[in-house]
Amino acid sequence: MIRVPFDFGDRTYDVTVGAGARHLLHEVIPATAERAAVVTQEAVPVEVEPGVERKVFTIGAGEAAKTLATVEDLCSRFARFGLTRRDVVVAVGGGVVTDTAGFAAAVYHRGVTVVHVPTTLLGQVDAALGGKTGVNLPEGKNLVGSFWQPGAVLCDTEVLGTLPPREYRSGCGEMAKYHFLGREGEDLEALALEARVARSVEIKASFVVGDERELLDADGAGGRPRACLNYGHTLAHALETAGGYDLRHGEAVAIGLVFAARLAAGLGRIDDARVARHEAVVDSYALDRTLPAGADTGELLALMRRDKKSRGGLSFVLDGPAGVEPVHDVAPAEVEAILKELAS
Ligand SMILES: NC(=O)c1ccc[n+]([C@@H]2O[C@H](COP(=O)([O-])OP(=O)(O)OC[C@H]3O[C@@H](n4cnc5c(N)ncnc54)[C@H](O)[C@@H]3O)[C@@H](O)[C@H]2O)c1
Ligand SMILES: [Zn+2]
Repeated sequence: MIRVPFDFGDRTYDVTVGAGARHLLHEVIPATAERAAVVTQEAVPVEVEPGVERKVFTIGAGEAAKTLATVEDLCSRFARFGLTRRDVVVAVGGGVVTDTAGFAAAVYHRGVTVVHVPTTLLGQVDAALGGKTGVNLPEGKNLVGSFWQPGAVLCDTEVLGTLPPREYRSGCGEMAKYHFLGREGEDLEALALEARVARSVEIKASFVVGDERELLDADGAGGRPRACLNYGHTLAHALETAGGYDLRHGEAVAIGLVFAARLAAGLGRIDDARVARHEAVVDSYALDRTLPAGADTGELLALMRRDKKSRGGLSFVLDGPAGVEPVHDVAPAEVEAILKELAS
């Protein structure tokens, strides 16, 4: 087992990574808890034993289930179960479950402890870490939520065995970004799965603890802004928003990473060998790194202009001599040229 501390002062907790980590649940729930509300989905074949009275609450699958209606329904069911502020919510599932259950825990009784047991690779290296919770509105994804740090996170690599191959690969696309966010010269490819997940968790922690609420900016107070975790995500979000491309999130991030590398090279920030590193990492996960057939580069450019990091001009998170950092006011012509290159 590998333990990674997330140091938030009096809200510090450990993320534990390893085969069988879910069996530690009884050790990490609050001492005051007499009941555990386990939130999960039908398709998640993972059972947990909190060691106190337990009731399982299932929610629906996919983004459609990440709604305020689901949160209301969960809170009503928690109340009928008799869950109090001294008890615990345990989220067992992918990002849809941890985001939704985490938000329900943040608002139920004005806040009850949540323990995450992420069961997708994407959840273990990203969604269940760092305290962002939330749900979707018809107007957009993740528009309502809160920062609510969990009491503990148990990343059990054993449960990844049942993931549909495409979900696993999507998690790999998210993990690919950490290959470029760690120490200089570090090689995540040399690590076995458990160590690689743990190192990804550690790298995420390194960005999150100094910038819990994502307020730092590259030209602001210094430190490593949490926004760097969006490496590869500007194009990924555009591809996802454009719709019609049938891409899982991590698949879109993989394309976005290669795009970001080529853009950085085009701007003279990195050399060709560094671009080749990005391509090799994406290839090692058997992920595509070209734009989907028929991609509309004009539409993607327009969507990237509307990205939330942007302040009018085009903003990206790009690699460079000082590592990965936010870069603003990138010339649209440069961006379009790289998009066209990736389309062929
Ligand atoms: N809060 C954050 O910081 C953060 C970060 C990244 C992503 N997210 C959110 O995470 C969500 C995506 O999460 P995801 O990729 O885990 O998708 P997901 O939660 O939809 O899970 C994918 C599918 O796998 C199934 N599944 C889960 N575990 C399984 C297992 N062990 N065996 C078999 N099937 C299993 C699920 O039921 C689901 O159908 C998005 O809503 C995204 O917004 C949040
Ligand atoms: Zn992501």
